Amino acid sequence: MVKICCIGAGYVGGPTMAVIALKCPDVEVVVVDISEARIAGWNSDRLPIYEPGLDDVVKRCRGRNLFFSTDVERYVGEADVVFVSVNTPTKTRGLGAGKAADLTYWESAARMIADVSRSDKIVVEKSTVPVKTAEAIEKILAHNGRGVRYQILSNPEFLAEGTAVRDLFAPDRVLIGGRETPEGQAAVKVLKDVYARWVPEDRIITTNLWSAELSKLAANAFLAQRISSVNAISALCEATGADVTEVACSIGKDSRIGPRFLSASVGFGGSCFQKDILNLVYICECYGLPEVADYWRQVIGINDYQKSRFVNRVVSSMFNTVAGKKVAVLGFAFKKDTGDTRETPAIDVCRGLLGDKAVVSIYDPQVTEEQVRRDLAMNKFDWDHPRHLQPVGEPADQPVAVTSDAYEAAHDAHAVCILTEWEEFRNLDYRRMYDLMQKPAFVFDGRNIVDPEKLRDIGFIVYAIGKPLDQWLKDMPAVAS
Ligand code: NAD
Ligand code: UGA
Repeated sequence: MVKICCIGAGYVGGPTMAVIALKCPDVEVVVVDISEARIAGWNSDRLPIYEPGLDDVVKRCRGRNLFFSTDVERYVGEADVVFVSVNTPTKTRGLGAGKAADLTYWESAARMIADVSRSDKIVVEKSTVPVKTAEAIEKILAHNGRGVRYQILSNPEFLAEGTAVRDLFAPDRVLIGGRETPEGQAAVKVLKDVYARWVPEDRIITTNLWSAELSKLAANAFLAQRISSVNAISALCEATGADVTEVACSIGKDSRIGPRFLSASVGFGGSCFQKDILNLVYICECYGLPEVADYWRQVIGINDYQKSRFVNRVVSSMFNTVAGKKVAVLGFAFKKDTGDTRETPAIDVCRGLLGDKAVVSIYDPQVTEEQVRRDLAMNKFDWDHPRHLQPVGEPADQPVAVTSDAYEAAHDAHAVCILTEWEEFRNLDYRRMYDLMQKPAFVFDGRNIVDPEKLRDIGFIVYAIGKPLDQWLKDMPAVAS
């Protein structure tokens, strides 16, 4: 049987390898990482990432055929198939800064593979990479190969955080791209046979390398585009009295459109949508396609607009100033059921409120105070580096508190902003919250999870994305900057 090693024990490497190990008990899977803290976490009772169902999967195969190690070179050297699932951040300096993918970690992984390999290997791109990366990797490996033969495959990952285990158990599709040579196709078959242990054959798609690489960027761009489309409509709903939930439901019934990914929100976050679209924009520019680049760039433009529109609503409703006013922020993770805060809209919203001198009190069931403070102190794009390499600015000397429950956050607050759709926020005792707060008391629902009418009956002034406005809000229109 093949031996598998995965470089990168992150949100993708950890869960995907755990599921492969679970479904293929006769395959040895070792996940390696340069971060000692991450590996120690994977070997402990408290995994380094929060993901429903993952603890159980890891417990069932760790020590049996699933191992986590910092001995990167040893396990890469021994493997037949090497997955590379390292960070591919956005470049912050030099050519393509602010758009292009920074392939530093990928390149160093490829050079290390070349250094330690003594037997032929299949190298699998699991990270999301610019189209044509496989060609660059082939060159690095070929020029440092010492006679070792390599086949590069593109096998992008489509899991979403919060549902990663479910997505990996029953993926919509598995995509494998390879060279159209007999050796390339033989490598595709090796990987296909691994997935075929639990994924129906008709869901395993094989393509050429460039289609697989580009499909991943395109899939994320299409998903993000749907959110920006509905968010753009949400602004028009607020201006006209239409209700974005009703509009989304109506258009989603059209089977050509479909109902998913049409929830208006304060904006999309997460480690990949923005990064991958910027990457796509850069690639289009490089291929001389400025119109195509502009088209996709606007998906991010609307997302930024949505976040600043939300902040402006908060400030304008509260007499055009939040200076010295306590604002409770419920939810800091970029979506529910994860502790991940990468590119979470909560960072931009908190920064906007702090910029207007608010006193911010944050509660999230899965995000630690240390993480919140790091996020608020970090420069754009710096988060996407292994933690020990992340440059963090001055500890934020800002009026920010992180609390251990929602009521403490709301105590004496003028407003509550809901920024993550955690289930527990649907079921809070809003009457109790109201009694704890300053008056007039405001709720700004950035996820459309509360019933505005019920809250209005309690006495709140309520803003919900894309929903008909209270008279109060109509009298104090927000202008997006
Ligand atoms: P992550 O930051 O959680 O994990 C990456 C890991 O790689 C880190 O632990 C880091 O220490 C390690 N690493 C970096 N360079 C290394 C090296 N040279 N040797 C050994 N380890 C090294 O990132 P992630 O969220 O798992 O994403 C990884 C890739 O997968 C990215 O390209 C991302 O775009 C893509 N992706 C992510 C998701 C997601 O939901 N997070 C989904 C699909 C695809
Ligand atoms: C997304 C894709 O869904 C995955 O297929 C992909 O593999 C992954 O990116 C990746 O490449 O990293 P993820 O970012 O984990 O997964 O989570 P999503 O469920 O896509 O949510 C992304 C953001 O969009 C969240 O902030 C979420 O709250 C927001 N969102 C989602 C909305 O605002 N409205 C929606 O209707 C759906």
